[in-house]
Amino acid sequence: MKIFITGGAGFIGSNLAHYYLSRGFETVVYDNLSRPGAEKNLAWLKGNHPKLVFHKSDIRSFETLKKAAKGSTIIYHMASQVAVTKSFQDPRTDFEINALGTLNVLEAVRTQKNPPIVIYASTNKVYGSMKEISLREKALRYEYKDKKLANGIDEHFHLDFHSPYGCSKGAGGQYTHDYARIYGLKTIVFRQSCIYGNRQFGNEDQGWVAHFARKALKRRQITIYGDGKQVRDLLYIEDLIDCYLKAIENIKKTSGEIYNVGGGTSFSTSLLELIALLEKKLDKKIKIRFRDWRPGDQKVYISDVSKTKKDFGWEPKTSVSKGLEKLLAWLHSI
Ligand SMILES: NC(=O)c1ccc[n+]([C@@H]2O[C@H](COP(=O)([O-])OP(=O)(O)OC[C@H]3O[C@@H](n4cnc5c(N)ncnc54)[C@H](O)[C@@H]3O)[C@@H](O)[C@H]2O)c1
Repeated sequence: MKIFITGGAGFIGSNLAHYYLSRGFETVVYDNLSRPGAEKNLAWLKGNHPKLVFHKSDIRSFETLKKAAKGSTIIYHMASQVAVTKSFQDPRTDFEINALGTLNVLEAVRTQKNPPIVIYASTNKVYGSMKEISLREKALRYEYKDKKLANGIDEHFHLDFHSPYGCSKGAGGQYTHDYARIYGLKTIVFRQSCIYGNRQFGNEDQGWVAHFARKALKRRQITIYGDGKQVRDLLYIEDLIDCYLKAIENIKKTSGEIYNVGGGTSFSTSLLELIALLEKKLDKKIKIRFRDWRPGDQKVYISDVSKTKKDFGWEPKTSVSKGLEKLLAWLHSI
């Protein structure tokens, strides 16, 4: 069994690689190391797992990718231009990596004799800014007003690709979904909310939970774009891996499907609430400043995870408090 992970030196990818290597699976990481922190993750993987196979390569290089991916059983396609902000500055590169890069992965798979399962990491950004949803404003957070959204946003919510990143990730997701229909490939698309945890080198552009935690530990000021009452559901990395594994175990049911995954209603927090929790855990006051909202930013996004529960019995387990403790412990250790 060969596990092939594009973006395998990134946050989610390195956790996946560690999971499989720890269990003795042949694991190939394919990454161009463009993300700050990727080199550190790679060094950590190499240090712990001498059998790791690594290709310093780009998903835009089709022939290289095709050769490296040959004979895989499962492909986790995690490589991506991940920052909404960067997609504004350079939409062409964003498109080439996220949309064309994903097509490259699918084409590399389609031409194989026994095509592997493809797991695609999409994003809640495919639903756009969701400005049409009525919200209630509370002291520390916004809430959905509509009782129909009591469990969050499900997969039937209309798509509204917003920002070049939303468009390129959305296009990649639709291709991945369609390749299951048109070519009979085994693909699963996950529209992920905020994933956080160990090995996440978050910055202002992406990975805000780790970014806030790191700033707080170093007693640095945190910039909040908007009023800080925006709400996200947070999913701890180990829960996401568990979700991928269970979905793969049930591939007959899950192939060709799309799932919203996140912490769901139980594990949601506003930015202000997370800062208050950090202050409590670290027993220190955190300095914050406010700047304008960023385009396309959703005021509330909470995933409805009922479909994952119904189809393969998965639901998030790690509370925001517990997950944050694990993240802080890892940040202390590096
Ligand atoms: N972390 C989250 O909260 C979150 C939420 C929604 C979706 N996602 C998606 O999950 C996937 C993984 O996210 P992550 O948080 O681990 O990001 P990450 O930035 O930590 O990892 C991405 C990896 O891809 C590599 N990469 C970038 N461009 C590449 C290219 N052209 N060729 C080869 N490698 C390349 C980077 O060097 C990096 O190691 C991405 O597709 C992202 O869009 C993540």
